[in-house]
Amino acid sequence: MPRILPIFAALLMTTAAGAAFAQSDYPNRPITIIVPHAAGGPTDTVSRLIAESMTRSLGETLVVENAGGAGSTVGAARAARAEPDGYTLMINHVAQASSGSLYRKLAFDPDADFDGVGLITDVPMTVVARKDFEPTDIASYIAWVKEHGDEVLYGHAGVGSASHLCGMLLMDALDVKMTTVPYKGTGPAMTDLLGGQIDTMCDQTTNTIPQMTSGAIKGYAVTTPERIEVLPDLPTLQEAGLEGFEMTVWHGMFAPAGTPPEILEKLSGALQVALQDPKVIERFAQLGTTPVPVEEATPAALDAHLAAEIAKWKSVVAKAGEFAD
Ligand code: MLT
Repeated sequence: MPRILPIFAALLMTTAAGAAFAQSDYPNRPITIIVPHAAGGPTDTVSRLIAESMTRSLGETLVVENAGGAGSTVGAARAARAEPDGYTLMINHVAQASSGSLYRKLAFDPDADFDGVGLITDVPMTVVARKDFEPTDIASYIAWVKEHGDEVLYGHAGVGSASHLCGMLLMDALDVKMTTVPYKGTGPAMTDLLGGQIDTMCDQTTNTIPQMTSGAIKGYAVTTPERIEVLPDLPTLQEAGLEGFEMTVWHGMFAPAGTPPEILEKLSGALQVALQDPKVIERFAQLGTTPVPVEEATPAALDAHLAAEIAKWKSVVAKAGEFAD
């Protein structure tokens, strides 16, 4: 019997040593970042900027892979099932906190199946419409939507997405039901807004500023309590009479649960470098947002934020009474 013990112990030590070497040598091949929203949308924009910067600091390529659908739950299910080895990550946003309350059946646990790497940015939203939408300002937009109700087509990125949540809050505040049109992300939704196939959307500045600046869509209001620097002429929804209306879209980088802490810390360090990258800061500013302070780009900060947001959206969804199968 004793003869077996040394062999077993040796095997155990070799395995542990191998795992330790793999972690110390991490990363030694490309890393995939799953973005659970379609290409060309705001989450994709933020993710590609972060991936490009982290590639430079980690010395291995971070490859963005879009997996849109069902308000991020299709891609998040894939990320949850990935090997916890640091080579598959996900960048998602507030949808990670809302999906558990909105979906009766989820193939994953948005909290327990993930380890946080760190927060990234908190993006303002804008109420926008096709360029020939009749209302000329937020007051006439509100009056029009109240009058025309379900004749108005509201585009979003699937139940639980930021654009869906903003629409849910907006329609609750206006006590009106527009007809909602889901997409795999607000990239494709923006294409239909530009083409006039849908009337309006509440979407992140990272997607709407370029189109508003070019005059291709109309901007009516921002969802933040204060006006934002890059859109000084756009009033807040609170100025328009929607008391206490506030909606921004936090983004975080996640890894599958069970990813070694040493790997999470290494990724968090590279994320913090990216958030201080002048190119990232400049591009974020042009798109109406800023990186979070580096002390929030940590596993502990994201884990705590996600838990608080899950509790927040649970009560918001219960009040709205909106669910998805
Ligand atoms: C959202 O509405 O959740 C996002 O805009 C989706 C996306 O990034 O496409």
